[in-house]
Amino acid sequence: MRKVVKEGYEKGDYGKAFRLHRVRLTKFELTLFKKLCNLLPEQGKILDLGCGLGIPYDKYLADKDFNVTGVDFSKKHISMARKNVPKARFIYKDFTKVNFRPATFDAIVSFYAIFHIPRKENKELFLMINKLLKENGIILVSLGTSDNEYSSKKDWAGAPMAWSTYKPKEYMSIIKNAGFKIIKAVFEGELGDKEYHFWVLAKKVPSK
Ligand SMILES: C[S@@+](CC[C@H](N)C(=O)[O-])C[C@H]1O[C@@H](n2cnc3c(N)ncnc32)[C@H](O)[C@@H]1O
Repeated sequence: MRKVVKEGYEKGDYGKAFRLHRVRLTKFELTLFKKLCNLLPEQGKILDLGCGLGIPYDKYLADKDFNVTGVDFSKKHISMARKNVPKARFIYKDFTKVNFRPATFDAIVSFYAIFHIPRKENKELFLMINKLLKENGIILVSLGTSDNEYSSKKDWAGAPMAWSTYKPKEYMSIIKNAGFKIIKAVFEGELGDKEYHFWVLAKKVPSK
């Protein structure tokens, strides 16, 4: 699956199809991002998993003076992100294999990226995210909506692409079991819409 996804983003043109004309956050996103920012300390450290071109999300957060680090395994996207958001730091790497010290970040975010790893890895991923967060750390993630172990398209934004997702109920249980308290869980769009996603804002449960 990783090969399809990695090659797909290098070969296709995700930026042109989805991001280059999109400078601002949507109203839906703004509501969630404002909540996220209000929960963070000034200049807090934020990690973005599967950051893409860095716009609009990392730019929004970096412009609010947060200390943003983005990770992506597309060389093309990382080099565009560095140009788009010079204030942030970008690392070329598989986001499931990052090696930061435990309790490094105030928030970890991920938009439209977790559905590109095999869903059986989600449990491990959220445990890793929990470990990398400071006490009371926050997550904001967008996820899939269907029970789909693997699906692919031959031409998505100009190249083959693959996805693997759970239903929201399963994501909620994975996130809670990884040590988070859900603050807000909300759908972007409706069943049948082109963009139909499940967003979760959650807080790391204090360790006893
Ligand atoms: C749909 S794009 C979203 C990009 C960005 N979050 C946004 O919303 O504009 C998915 C991104 O995740 C990256 N990605 C997918 N799987 C990855 C992995 N295992 N490690 C690192 N990056 C990954 C892709 O290269 C791509 O840039």
